[in-house]
Amino acid sequence: MRYRKIPDESVRRLPMYLRGLRLFSEQGVKNISSHKLAGLVGVNSHQIRKDLSYFGDFGVPGVGYETGKLLKQIRSILKLNTPCKTALVGFGNLGSALIKYPGFEAYGLHISDIFDSDRRKVGRTVKNIRIQDVSKLSSLKKKQVRLAIIAVPAAAAQDITDKLIKAGVNGILNFAPYYLNVPKKVKVISIDIAMDLAILPYYLPTGS
Ligand code: NAI
Repeated sequence: MRYRKIPDESVRRLPMYLRGLRLFSEQGVKNISSHKLAGLVGVNSHQIRKDLSYFGDFGVPGVGYETGKLLKQIRSILKLNTPCKTALVGFGNLGSALIKYPGFEAYGLHISDIFDSDRRKVGRTVKNIRIQDVSKLSSLKKKQVRLAIIAVPAAAAQDITDKLIKAGVNGILNFAPYYLNVPKKVKVISIDIAMDLAILPYYLPTGS
C-alpha cells in the first residue's frame, strides 16, 4: 500500500465534522451531503470530501453520507468510541472553569483525575473527583490515563509535562504559555486565547 501522510489539519477538522453531524443527527437527518455539512461547519465541501477520503470511502455518490454511520466512523478514527480518561493538572481559575464545562463528555472525554500542589485544594472533592497531590501523578500509569490537560503556571509546565510522560501520558492539551519539549511519540496541542486574540486586530478594516 502506498504511504500517504494524513495532514494534521485534516485530523483537526474531524471534530468539527463530528459536531456538525451530531446536530444533524439530533434533528433526525438520516443522510447528509458534503454540501449540507459544509454549510454548517464552515469548511468547503471539496475539503470535507478530501479530508474524509484519507480515512476511507464513506459516502455514496448522489446520496451523500449516512449521518449516524459517519458519526460512528469519525468517532472510531479519532479513537473516541471508548471513553477517554483525561487528567487535569492545576485547579486554579482555569482548571476550575474547565471542570464545569459539560462539552467534553459529548466527545467521550472524561476528566477522571485532578492534581494540584496547593495543600488547601488537595483532598477537596469536585464533581465526585478528589483533588490529589501532584506528587501522585505517577498513579496515572496504573489507571491507564493517556491524556492530560495542563493548567498550571508556565514555570511549572515543563516539569509537569515530564512527569506526565513518565506516567504514560501521550496526549497533552497545554494551556500554559510555554513551549513544551516532548519526545516524538507525545502529541501536544497548545491553546492560547490571548495569542489568538492578538491576531484579530491585524484583520480589522482600516479607516472606518
Ligand atoms: P491559577 O494561578 O489560578 O491556577 C494555577 C493552579 O496551578 C493553582 O491551583 C496552583 O496551586 C496550581 N499549581 C501551581 N504549580 C503547580 C504544580 N507544580 N503542580 C500542580 N499544580 C500547580 O492560574 P490560572 O489562571 O488558572 O492559569 C493557569 C495556567 O493557564 C497559567 O499558565 C495561565 O497562564 C494559563 N492560561 C491560559 C489561557 C489560555 O488561553 N491558554 C487562559 C487562561 C490561563
